[in-house]
Amino acid sequence: MTHGTSGTVTLVGGGPGGWDLLTIRGLRALEAADVILTDHLGPADQVEEFLDTSGKELIDVSKLPYGRQVAQERINGLLVEHALAGRNVARLKGGDPYVFGRGYEELQACAAAGLTCSVVPGVTSAVSVPAAAGVPVTQRGVTHAFTVVSGHLPPGHPSSLVDWPALARVGGTIVVIMGVRNAHAICGELLAAGLGGGTPAAVIQEGETAAQRAFFTSLSELPDVMERERVASPAVYVIGEVAGLAHA
Ligand SMILES: C[S@@+](CC[C@H](N)C(=O)[O-])C[C@H]1O[C@@H](n2cnc3c(N)ncnc32)[C@H](O)[C@@H]1O
Repeated sequence: MTHGTSGTVTLVGGGPGGWDLLTIRGLRALEAADVILTDHLGPADQVEEFLDTSGKELIDVSKLPYGRQVAQERINGLLVEHALAGRNVARLKGGDPYVFGRGYEELQACAAAGLTCSVVPGVTSAVSVPAAAGVPVTQRGVTHAFTVVSGHLPPGHPSSLVDWPALARVGGTIVVIMGVRNAHAICGELLAAGLGGGTPAAVIQEGETAAQRAFFTSLSELPDVMERERVASPAVYVIGEVAGLAHA
């Protein structure tokens, strides 16, 4: 039940790390918010550096004490609950809200509750994290396509929506996010589908942060390099000729 006028919800893309990659529109939305919901990616842990948070309620939804599936319901519930109570809510997300960010689910939950929800795009890690390590996802005369794919499920998983063999034939750059755990299976599938083992590859962990690490190798070596270097999430890997340009 609403009491008086509802507030609004704004989904704000926070970029990959450093808060200076937040957009001006995103910053204004945060300044105008009464409540800010943050999670663990993007500039969430720097909010107090770039924003006067006095009078604002900050809720770290990455620390909600629920399992992963339930947590999204809880986040949706908090967005709706606070906005229905008349507060302006900003939801600060890593990267872009619509790139593997569940932003559209949050917008739908707000719309179902009759709330106005707007979206401020963000700098996605899929492009900016490779760039931070010197890798352009496209380059004239080298690749005319890049595909951003989620590696959170291994090839062959019954719920996977990715046609990995087709990706191996596309011929452009492949950017895998959320793929650390499944790197062996993913690279193995691409190799089995005919992508050359010598295809350049790069992996970048915690891009655009002080902790950034990047390793340059080949498709066939990538999983072993990641294991040996203990590459951990969040990380992006890039497979394709552009990955060899960084040190060319
Ligand atoms: C749930 S997805 C969210 C993606 C986000 N919406 C975006 O547009 O960047 C999280 C994944 O993004 C990638 N990622 C996000 N920030 C990153 C960073 N700073 N460095 C490396 N990878 C990052 C990782 O693959 C991580 O597992």
